[in-house]
Amino acid sequence: MDTNEFNQRIERILITEDEIKTKIQMVGNRITQDYNGKPILLVSILKGAFVFLADLIRAIKVPCEISFMCAKSYYNGTTSSGKVNITMDISQDISNYHVIIVEDIIDTGRTLKDVIEVLKSRNPLSLKVITLLDKPSRRLVELDTDIALFTIPDLFVVGYGLDCAEYYRNLPYIAVYKE
Ligand code: IMP
Ligand code: MG
Repeated sequence: MDTNEFNQRIERILITEDEIKTKIQMVGNRITQDYNGKPILLVSILKGAFVFLADLIRAIKVPCEISFMCAKSYYNGTTSSGKVNITMDISQDISNYHVIIVEDIIDTGRTLKDVIEVLKSRNPLSLKVITLLDKPSRRLVELDTDIALFTIPDLFVVGYGLDCAEYYRNLPYIAVYKE
């Protein structure tokens, strides 16, 4: 993709860098208070959540560990395939951890539902879900999210880790993608 097209397809900024920063500080403080003295494992779902995780852990002021899983439900575009594959799994035993799943966006909810089931079956001390973005109007499965930093309308968004066909993850804000 050339740089002109790259820029033209950014319709508008939906959530600014500052708005993201402010919310992350709030959530970081909350985790710091709620989990103080407990073994924490933050499990991030690649690739989209890596930027969010990187900023979130720096807002947490108590010891915590991180791990990565790879689960995909979108391929090369803006429509869900409806299929979720866990292509990379975490390696450690989670039964002695309070696990927090860190997700970029919940759309239909299929990806997360599968990940939650897999992790629950491994008996963590507790399991919570934090998502940067939530698109509740698109939900196809029932799901409990503990924290959503931003609830957004049914728009395809990119940036801050979120991609369209692998591009735009490097934008420091969340933008609406022009289809
Ligand atoms: P779900 O299984 O339908 O909830 O899809 C979740 C995954 O789809 C997310 O982790 C994203 O990778 C991707 N996704 C859903 N909506 C968007 C969007 O607006 N922009 C970029 N990726 C999205
Ligand atoms: Mg994606």
